[in-house]
Amino acid sequence: MPLSLDAINLTHDPFSKRIVKSGDRVDLGQGHEMEFVSAPNLHWPDTIFSFDHRTQTLFTCDAFGMHYCSDSTFDDNLEAIEADFRFYYDCLMGPNARSLLNAMKKMGDLGKIKIIANGHGPLLYHNLDILRECYHNWSQKQAKAETVVAVFCATDYGYSDRLAAAICQGVQKTGVGVEIMDLTTADSQEIQELAHRAAGIVIGMPPSANVAAQAAVSSLLAVTKDKQSIGLFECYGNDDEPIDPLRRKFIDLGVKEAFPAVRIKETPTAATYQLLEEAGTDIGQLLVRERNIKQIKALDVNMEKALGRISSGLYIITTKKSDINGAMLASWVAQASLQPLGFTVAVAKDRAIDSLMQEGDSFVLNVLEEGNYQEIKKHFLKRLYPGADRFAGVKTQTANNGCPILTDALAYMECEVVSSIECSDHWILYCTVKDGRVSKPNGLTAVRHRKVGNYY
Ligand SMILES: Cc1cc2nc3c(=O)[nH]c(=O)nc-3n(C[C@H](O)[C@H](O)[C@H](O)COP(=O)(O)O)c2cc1C
Repeated sequence: MPLSLDAINLTHDPFSKRIVKSGDRVDLGQGHEMEFVSAPNLHWPDTIFSFDHRTQTLFTCDAFGMHYCSDSTFDDNLEAIEADFRFYYDCLMGPNARSLLNAMKKMGDLGKIKIIANGHGPLLYHNLDILRECYHNWSQKQAKAETVVAVFCATDYGYSDRLAAAICQGVQKTGVGVEIMDLTTADSQEIQELAHRAAGIVIGMPPSANVAAQAAVSSLLAVTKDKQSIGLFECYGNDDEPIDPLRRKFIDLGVKEAFPAVRIKETPTAATYQLLEEAGTDIGQLLVRERNIKQIKALDVNMEKALGRISSGLYIITTKKSDINGAMLASWVAQASLQPLGFTVAVAKDRAIDSLMQEGDSFVLNVLEEGNYQEIKKHFLKRLYPGADRFAGVKTQTANNGCPILTDALAYMECEVVSSIECSDHWILYCTVKDGRVSKPNGLTAVRHRKVGNYY
């Protein structure tokens, strides 16, 4: 841990200290010689790893962590921790992939590392090589991304780091790279280099009194080009710099605004983080739209016509998790098991609903009726601003699992997501059915006939 003034304020008691830098060693006795490795930006600008040569244990602060807790001290069950290990990486480490690759290179110079003792989750020991390789591969993929969104904020201000992490998560869902940079500690050259390289720029408004961050924002304005997209959000600090004057300056430069400025007036809730995640997805989707259209056009015409003969029904998935609800028109739904009754649904990775459809989550599958679905379909395909109410003007009832049932649906099923498989640009979710009703016994399911297989 870096020994900053903040650390002293935490203890409220004076203690003897020595400030260390990369490469320094401190002998704690009995062979425990600690070596320090500077690993900046791994969630905090001043992260330092500490290596105990005797036990070959590397203390990594937030890096290699996960929000997972069980009775095991060690990573003895790889299957149990995999998903959390990946999720934590995506949220907190992925946006700093370049810094992570630098830190891992320095780790290589320490010699054999037997244990990684991180600040969150089990100690990594049994599967250390596999987990290190995962970090390396994911970071290389991120660092190589051709299209990058740069997220700038003063990370120690308001809720900015958590809000920025939600945006990064949303961007990553679209397959676009994301890098986060601290406006207070990064030097202006680093800031301008990243801003110059990025196709999209997101700024969390720094406090008015932070002179360094204000100067950094000015240097961003100096390098922004009209082909870039921007997005702005408040950090819910006491003294956020107002959004509008900055927004005006960017618009005057001719840049596209990827999402309406997010103005946070109350303590962030789950809905706020969802809103920011959706804003991140919006900027990512804006940047990849043209590339995706080109890829779809390049498909073999006969093959796509043949695939188009796969037909399916039409459904609306509806969910509610704490105070957030979501809905999506879906046709890639297919029954998959008899006991228990189960089916699969393919959900694109960049769908807003993705975060409400994780393993263990509940939802309702509403079946649309042939000859009676156009209005509902149109309603649920409308593009809404992040955070808008998907159900405004739609008749609903509440299912036992708390999710909305569409009153006009032909049938509904209460379901739970059991497992998922990653399939390129979609997640295939295997779901089981807990309950269900048909509202019109003679009604027929709406069928989706397509001409080509390169869209739903
Ligand atoms: C006929 C039709 C069927 C669709 N089926 C699916 C589907 O099975 N899976 C999916 O991820 N998206 C599907 N979509 C796309 C989504 O319904 C739609 O783009 C989405 O609701 C937009 O949400 P977003 O804000 O998350 O991008 C379908 C779209 C149409 C027009």
